[in-house]
Amino acid sequence: MQKLAIQGGYRLNGEVRISGAKNAALPIMCASLLTADELYLSNLPDMHDVATMIKLLQQMGVRVDSGIQSATFNAAQVDKLEAPYDMVKTMRAAILVLGPLLTRFGEARVSLPGGCAIGSRPVDLHIKGLLAMGAEIHIEHGYIHATARRLHGAHICFDLISVTGTENLMMAAVLADGITVLENAAREPEVVDLANCLIAMGAKIEGAGSDKITITGVEKLHGANYGVMPDRIESGTFLVAAAATGGHITLTDARADILDSVLDKLREAGAKVEVEGDRISLEMNARPRAVNLRTAPYPAFPTDMQAQFMALNAIAEGNSIVVETIFENRFMHVQELVRLGAQIEIEGNTAVIQGCAQLEGATVMATDLRASASLVIAGMVAQGETIVDRIYHLDRGYEHIEAKLSALGAKIRRIQ
Ligand code: EPZ
Repeated sequence: MQKLAIQGGYRLNGEVRISGAKNAALPIMCASLLTADELYLSNLPDMHDVATMIKLLQQMGVRVDSGIQSATFNAAQVDKLEAPYDMVKTMRAAILVLGPLLTRFGEARVSLPGGCAIGSRPVDLHIKGLLAMGAEIHIEHGYIHATARRLHGAHICFDLISVTGTENLMMAAVLADGITVLENAAREPEVVDLANCLIAMGAKIEGAGSDKITITGVEKLHGANYGVMPDRIESGTFLVAAAATGGHITLTDARADILDSVLDKLREAGAKVEVEGDRISLEMNARPRAVNLRTAPYPAFPTDMQAQFMALNAIAEGNSIVVETIFENRFMHVQELVRLGAQIEIEGNTAVIQGCAQLEGATVMATDLRASASLVIAGMVAQGETIVDRIYHLDRGYEHIEAKLSALGAKIRRIQ
């Protein structure tokens, strides 16, 4: 089991390039299943979940030629319409092959994802939407077995906002017969990035980025060249790390227009944030001020930034309240932060944090992707050495994070 050893007390300074967005790359890679032509993707992040998705597509028969942060996908010879349990259990985003397989090939067998550390994470809304579009679905032996001669358009209103639910049904609708309207759709930028890629492939989609998306089905899609958007959560993670260590960094190849809620909170914490094109700079010259957070669907404060910001609040001046409204169990990082000396009490989906001047290094354990990032940030400000265990969680969703942090001055190294 690999670990990270971190020496606290070093400010982050310098420039860091932001990689392609994991949560845009994953659905966009699944879009390759929608055509027999080649889909060339650039700005693909080099991280474990992307590698897992490539393996999943290859075992279906998709030809994938990988380059440096790029790959060409060709789904002309797909011969296995299945996403097996052993691959889905490690990455729930594998559910995103369901819509494309069903709408192009008329059949799909996808393992139910099962729960994960941050919550039960059902896929009932994905299934409900496909049933409305005429699919026949049986849940058997832990698999979703869906068939449809040809899906037809439907008017679907989501009971609650689901990012991959919106993405799965949008992909199912692009080849369906007729018009599909998705109401109460997710507005996340990654949904927009997927829509833009599908449009480049010949899909007819209007309203992506709003809560009402209208898709007019077409007979077939063609190939395209598409560059994945920058990762807003990686951007936010580095900015919070710079704020926590009292540093001064500049992100390059980033996008500030999709980070408003995070930049606002960083300014409220006392950081100086400047935006110039695709560069975002942050400077923190004093101890951060505590800020209250409430996660909610985009464009509100993202749940994927909650754990990282809690590490900042843990050493801030004053008390703060963090409310997690998306997932039922996304406070796994709290007990680990408490081991580092943080003063945090949990009441249901609310955490109350009393900022303290100093954390003490300790051995802590990562439990999920963003919790790991939170512990790395805390380790960079804690006195002495912090060992973060089970960092395979971190490698799933961050590209070469210790190399990027070391280049900014962090004292961090990977140990077996
Ligand atoms: C996406 O997950 C992201 N993953 C998550 O990022 C992110 O935290 C989440 O959206 C919320 O923004 C990818 O895009 C690959 P949801 P997703 O469906 O789509 C409930 C990370 O760290 N729900 O928007 O799975 C669900 O239980 C990951 O990169 C249903 O009840 O999340 C949750 O409470 C973690 N039924 C809420 O909706 C359904 O059918 C939002 O889930 C679907 C979801």
